[in-house]
Amino acid sequence: MNEITTDVTMPSDLQLNLVNEAATAELAQRLAQQVRAGDVIFLQGELGAGKTTFTRHFARALGIEGRIKSPTYTLVESYTLNAGTHDATTLHHFDLYRLGDPREWYSAGFDEYLNDRTIALIEWPSQAAGALPAPTFSLTFEHADDLTDVDVESFDGVRRVRVAGTVNRLSSLG
Ligand SMILES: Nc1ncnc2c1ncn2[C@@H]1O[C@H](COP(=O)(O)OP(=O)(O)OP(=O)(O)O)[C@@H](O)[C@H]1O
Ligand SMILES: [Mg+2]
Repeated sequence: MNEITTDVTMPSDLQLNLVNEAATAELAQRLAQQVRAGDVIFLQGELGAGKTTFTRHFARALGIEGRIKSPTYTLVESYTLNAGTHDATTLHHFDLYRLGDPREWYSAGFDEYLNDRTIALIEWPSQAAGALPAPTFSLTFEHADDLTDVDVESFDGVRRVRVAGTVNRLSSLG
C-alpha cells in the first residue's frame, strides 16, 4: 500500500518567538490546557532565560493560587492540583541547578515523584542526566537579542523557545 499516513507519535518540534512575558504566559496557558497526568516537561536554557517565569504562568493556569517560589535551594516545590481534564493530583516543580550529581536524584527519592498521578516541570534536567525519563515536552528558552523585527520597547523581554514533543501533543501549541 502506498497510502501516506502520519504517525502522530513521531518526534517533532516547533520554534516560537515570545516577544514579551505575556507571550510566554500565553504559551504556558496553551500547554496547561492540554497537559495530562504522567507528563514530564523539561525546561532548558541559560540563567534568566524564563524557565521559572513559564512555570509560574503554567501553575496559575492550572488554578494554583498563592506564591510560586523558585525551588533553587529546596530542589522541588509541590502543589496540589484541583480536579481538571489533566487528571493529575500534584504538580512538581524541580530546579536541579544545585543537584551535585545525577545519583542524588535517586537518593532524594525524586524518581518516586514522577508517576501517573503527577505532572512534573524540571528546570536544569541536564544536572540529572541519565536518571530522568524521556520528557513529554522539552522547552528550550533563549534570549533573542538578534530579533530585529520586534518592537524596540519590548526588546529586553524577547525570548525564543523551541518546543520538542510528538506530533499529536504539539498540534495545539503552534
Ligand atoms: N518574554 C519573556 N519570557 C519570560 N520571561 C521574560 C520575558 N521577558 C522578560 N522576562 C523576564 O526574564 C526573567 C526570567 O527569569 P526566570 O527566573 O524565569 O529565569 P530562569 O530561566 O528560571 O533562570 P534560572 O536558571 O536562574 O532559574 C524574569 O525576570 C522575567 O520577568
Ligand atoms: Mg528558574
